[in-house]
Amino acid sequence: MLDKTIVDLINTQINKEFYSAYLYLNISNYYYDNNLNGFGNWFKVQAQEERDHAMLFIQYMQNNGCKIVLEPIAAPTKEYSDFAEPLNDVYAHEQYVTKLIHNIYGEALNLKDFRTFQFLDWFVQEQGEEEKNADDLIKRFELFGHEAKGLYMLDSELAARVYSAPSLVLD
Ligand code: FEO
Repeated sequence: MLDKTIVDLINTQINKEFYSAYLYLNISNYYYDNNLNGFGNWFKVQAQEERDHAMLFIQYMQNNGCKIVLEPIAAPTKEYSDFAEPLNDVYAHEQYVTKLIHNIYGEALNLKDFRTFQFLDWFVQEQGEEEKNADDLIKRFELFGHEAKGLYMLDSELAARVYSAPSLVLD
């Protein structure tokens, strides 16, 4: 059994990961609505990754005999006014999620909960990649996204992203 502090934090994190999936689906829908189907695809795949993150936390709780409490998932309500805006929001959101993961990581270390500490290693690394991906998207949009041909090429590139299961597998 894990310490209650860790159980509560992971329950919250499950909700945050599902919310991330919702947020990215909302962004995906925005791009599809504006005929940028490559951007729409990229964020739909990203939403699947977020669902995977939630499921990994759920599996970890189940493996440790912890009670899982599912909370309501807030609806993302933001309306976007230009194509760059969601990209900036995503970067800020990933930085926020990194803080949440680091907070659990720090608590696990304080409590000498080395099992959780080790489990979270994958998420610490994943957050580094998530932030880099978000930052790369912003930079490439700034370079190419403000004129039609560049936007078309970028959209075509993002259309090629395919879903792959996470490299972390819990039995
Ligand atoms: Fe689950 Fe994008 O972090």
